[in-house]
Amino acid sequence: MKQLVKSLTEKFAPSGFESPVREFIEAETKGLFDEMRVDALGNLILLKKAAKGAGQPKKIMVAAHMDEIGVIATHIEKDGFVRFAPIGGVYPRNLPGSRVRFVNGTRGVIGVEEMKPGDAVSIEKCYIDVGVLSDAGHPVCIGDVAGFDREFSEVGGKWVAKAMDDRIGVAIAIQVMRAVKDSANDIYFVFTTQEEVGTRGAETSAYSVDPDLGIALDVTGWGDTPNQKGLSIKLGAGPAIKIKDAGMISDPRVVKWMISAAEAEEMPYQREVLLGGTTDARAIQLARSGVPVGVVSIPCRYVHSASEMIDPIDVENAVKLVTRLVSLPVHL
Ligand code: CO
Ligand code: ZN
Repeated sequence: MKQLVKSLTEKFAPSGFESPVREFIEAETKGLFDEMRVDALGNLILLKKAAKGAGQPKKIMVAAHMDEIGVIATHIEKDGFVRFAPIGGVYPRNLPGSRVRFVNGTRGVIGVEEMKPGDAVSIEKCYIDVGVLSDAGHPVCIGDVAGFDREFSEVGGKWVAKAMDDRIGVAIAIQVMRAVKDSANDIYFVFTTQEEVGTRGAETSAYSVDPDLGIALDVTGWGDTPNQKGLSIKLGAGPAIKIKDAGMISDPRVVKWMISAAEAEEMPYQREVLLGGTTDARAIQLARSGVPVGVVSIPCRYVHSASEMIDPIDVENAVKLVTRLVSLPVHL
């Protein structure tokens, strides 16, 4: 699992440019599904059919997004510096000193203009230094996108990487595909695109899958570091079962179903109320005439920085929980 997460997090796939991750998942899941398709938005949709004799199987959509936050070049200065705009929720305070890698392989360092005491960092004051001194023959074009450049590492038994949001969800979905043997349900594992810019891939894929039930796998925030308030989520205290976030209220029947499953597995779990942000579950819930949805969240510190930290124990428990949820008959 660690190797899988390392490989996934070290791919570069800002929203709209997910193909490196999609190709990796296709190779990794060979032989684990019955049907595969890629839709116009680039969503990878893998169907694992219910075991024979399963009666009237329910369609469960399990979504994990392939894309990551990043930046897009908007202007090349005469002296070679690249101005940029965010792709997704980039925090300006995390930028100075960060490194980025463009999809074409060009690497850069983010600098910030001289600031007066008390000034806040803004994206407009930042630039990418790719080590060239002029705009002539520049390796970056306007519209080129980049992801944050940071290797996976292990810190005190925790896993740290850029794009843990949401490659950890992708890794969990792959592990669940491996773990599910005979399921009572038709399981659609959907690796979605463009979540970070507004759950766009989940919107089209949920329309075509037309599921009876949806589960998103994604990271959530944390409340267990100094002066971090407002969220009762701890690393290592179990996967979180989402009750509400800023864009969605989980179906209470789905929440109850998830909690009963965690209790049956005798695993720790946490109840999640997230004040900011949302997930693919929002788009699934609002597809067609509406779908009951819930989210299994992985507690993650420093979300949307280049060093997102998770506890592998939570990941192991999430795989166990989701495997049970998608395998057994569902009666909401
Ligand atoms: Co995110
Ligand atoms: Zn995410």
